[in-house]
Amino acid sequence: MRKFLTTTAIAAVMLGMGGLSANAEENVEVLHWWTAGGEAAALDVLKKDLESKGISWTDMPVAGGGGTEAMTVLRARVTAGNAPTAVQMLGFDILDWAKEGALGNLDEIAEKEGWDKVIPTALQQFSKYDGHWIAAPVNVHSTNWMWINKAALDKAGGKEPQNWDELVALLDNFKEQGITPVAHGGQAWQDATIFDAVVLSLGNDFYKKAFIDLDPEALGSDQMKEAFDRMTKLRSYVDDNFSGRDWNLASAMVIEGKAGLQFMGDWAKGEFIKAEQKPGEDFVCMRFPGTQGSVTFNSDQFAMFKVAEDKVPAQLAMASAIESPVFQSAFNVVKGSAPARTDVPDTDFDDCGKKAIKDLAEANANGTLYGSMGHGHANPASVKNAIYDVVTRQFNGDLSSEEAVTELVAAVEAAQ
Ligand code: GAL
Repeated sequence: MRKFLTTTAIAAVMLGMGGLSANAEENVEVLHWWTAGGEAAALDVLKKDLESKGISWTDMPVAGGGGTEAMTVLRARVTAGNAPTAVQMLGFDILDWAKEGALGNLDEIAEKEGWDKVIPTALQQFSKYDGHWIAAPVNVHSTNWMWINKAALDKAGGKEPQNWDELVALLDNFKEQGITPVAHGGQAWQDATIFDAVVLSLGNDFYKKAFIDLDPEALGSDQMKEAFDRMTKLRSYVDDNFSGRDWNLASAMVIEGKAGLQFMGDWAKGEFIKAEQKPGEDFVCMRFPGTQGSVTFNSDQFAMFKVAEDKVPAQLAMASAIESPVFQSAFNVVKGSAPARTDVPDTDFDDCGKKAIKDLAEANANGTLYGSMGHGHANPASVKNAIYDVVTRQFNGDLSSEEAVTELVAAVEAAQ
């Protein structure tokens, strides 16, 4: 009884202060794919934040990087008429669910808190549908990063590779050192993550034309053949056991010095931090060579589903908690991402985090910020999956570069 009164009293005070709060009985069921060490640590920041506001958490984790498996489970849940309260989701998937009329409405809280002014337009494109807020963005990740074991880099002379040739020279050096040059997990979304960076390294315009505009000429160009040739080259640097390996196990290979580097989005930093590694001392973060100044981004958002009326206050309180600047800093420091708001100070972020925030702002200002194909921010799932299929088959040697180019043009056309 005492506990109930205390919680009610706290809730009353918070409401009095103008903050959104919820009763102790209120609960959110959250579907997500944050099951790796760094991801789970970040999720814990959110769980604890909500708990402190009297909102309990029902966890619905679906393992599988990039969220492919989570999206399959979600479809089954919604079809059964049992949508979760909030679902971690990427880019075009959010808009697809909105089109189906499955999402709720966050306008009340978004207006009250002025989200329009602080959440970048690049994210709003996916947080709003038909002028209404449907999702709360948690972060901004980007895919054109690489994570290098510092000791191995030092052994190789310490110079960070600035272009493709220097990258190849570094990978050769790692081979000579007797370590696996590239830590990779052979899963379609991981192959696609590398492909994002490789295509971007062949030019901003090329990336935009190929993946954003889906221009058949760019998709079928000699440059695209070159992109596939580069994938073949990178494939020669992975170990024999790469097939099916989870991305965080690939990060662990770099952390443990068994591999030289990993091409991966900045969620990988969450793993390094969790393992108590320090940027600049134990590992080096840098943009994929040739993509400096450009960013292929993806943003994790919590899409809010239409739920029974008595569950709406907890849903709104969750959205409000996510957009709080203090939470944005605390969460993203652990997750490896940049905040989803432009007004969060970078004070608490490490050097990689500061660089992520700066790169993002600059790319946004310079028009070199692009949605990630690999992580659902360039195209709807149908097109994304068609690209995944060709990229993975080529990476595994089932298609030559020439065949892959032809198949890519056809697959993208058929998927639209
Ligand atoms: C991305 C997501 C990240 C991270 C990663 C690996 O799509 O945006 O937050 O979870 O997948 O699971």
